[in-house]
Amino acid sequence: MSLGATKTREALASRLGFILLSAGCAIGLGNVWRFPYIAGRYGGAAFVLVYMVFLIILGLPVMVMELSIGRASQTNIGLTFETLTPTKKPWHLYGKLAIIGNYVLMMFYTTITGWLLSYFVHTIKGDFVGLNADQVGGFFSTMLGKPGSMIFWMILAVVLGLLPVAKGLQSGVEKITKQMMIGLLLLMLVLAFNSMLLDGAGEGLKFYLVPDFGKMVESGLSETIYAAMGQAFFTLSLGIGSISIFGSYIGKEHRLTGEAVRIIGLDTFVALCSGLIIFPAAFAFGVQPDAGPSLIFITLPNIFNQMSGGRIWGSLFFLFMSFAALSTLIAVFENIISFWIDTKGVDRKKATLFNGIAIVLLSLPCILGFNVLAGFQPLGPGTGVLDLEDFVVSSTLLPLGSLFFTIYCTWKYGWGWDKFITEADSGSNGLGFPKVLRPYFKYVLPAIILGIFLKGYWDIFIA
Ligand code: ALA
Repeated sequence: MSLGATKTREALASRLGFILLSAGCAIGLGNVWRFPYIAGRYGGAAFVLVYMVFLIILGLPVMVMELSIGRASQTNIGLTFETLTPTKKPWHLYGKLAIIGNYVLMMFYTTITGWLLSYFVHTIKGDFVGLNADQVGGFFSTMLGKPGSMIFWMILAVVLGLLPVAKGLQSGVEKITKQMMIGLLLLMLVLAFNSMLLDGAGEGLKFYLVPDFGKMVESGLSETIYAAMGQAFFTLSLGIGSISIFGSYIGKEHRLTGEAVRIIGLDTFVALCSGLIIFPAAFAFGVQPDAGPSLIFITLPNIFNQMSGGRIWGSLFFLFMSFAALSTLIAVFENIISFWIDTKGVDRKKATLFNGIAIVLLSLPCILGFNVLAGFQPLGPGTGVLDLEDFVVSSTLLPLGSLFFTIYCTWKYGWGWDKFITEADSGSNGLGFPKVLRPYFKYVLPAIILGIFLKGYWDIFIA
């Protein structure tokens, strides 16, 4: 039996499908690429602890809110506010902005997913074998200088992400994401186990698992806290309605807090496993854990080059990274396509084709920003189109959107607390929303989010 609440709207076939699909939307580059390098940069275990606190006090309530408005409105974020509060017009604008946010996220996500696919193929082919550390670094810079090749891999990423969406919600998106997520979770356990068995892995495990708050102070306390909060938003895809769409595909049997806990649990499991794969290996082979965004593309092929069976482990690693990124692409594409189906009544296949072409074209500036448009440095020397697009999403729309969802669900000027709680707690199974903390959700949570938003702008434009 399907889990959907209406006859006309498509629905998911199983609860496992819902959990894995929503977790697939959350699990992505944020877990396997961003989390390890940010944890490495901000001192390891102490950062991880703060990050986990933010997942609970900030990520969990906002996720329940997104799922609730999705399930109550039975539509995508572009129409949610009109459906729930038809007369409160100013809110409607954010729905459209959130859909634009999904497009902007895809404008750079497709490029990085393309890099991962290309690294997977290069590793299998043995193209890194015999290269020294500088040559591996050179490989990455050479790739950035070749727009044609990056466009090829980006188009492949778009096609792989859109095919399941074109096939339909149950037979495409749900079925394929389910298989990919189960493969991803198993692959991660094998890789983490292998990494922990390396000679010298103990130092890496210590860095990653034993908190040293002195290190956190050295890295800058407020920067670390800010980074941990930003990572919590990014990793859960909160603020632009990417998650709310999945609320619209499930029925009312389960309370939404319990569902959100499961999604966040899986997301955290993948992030923690990524660290278990990367840090022991980095320490075992003398690679600095604070190497930054290039950690994976520049240093990991070096690590795999030195490891016995490295070509196989490297290929598996880039395969698992590609799965994680593709699961987010599929989920966000589903959100975009369902906007066109719900709003314009467009047929699923046509909407997929039209959006596929649009997303390929919209992804070009990010790629050209590394070569043809390298002179365009919108956020200061050394920055590019990718940084601008990431800033628009991560430092602007995600915190702003999460702030709006919080106010919308807890204040009477929006949808209001009573309607929110009725929806979040409808159903007889699973954890209920902690109603006694209402003042926290109404006042403190928005204040924390506003703080993140202002801090992001302060750091980029004023400090
Ligand atoms: N939540 C998605 C990720 O972690 C955007 O990559």
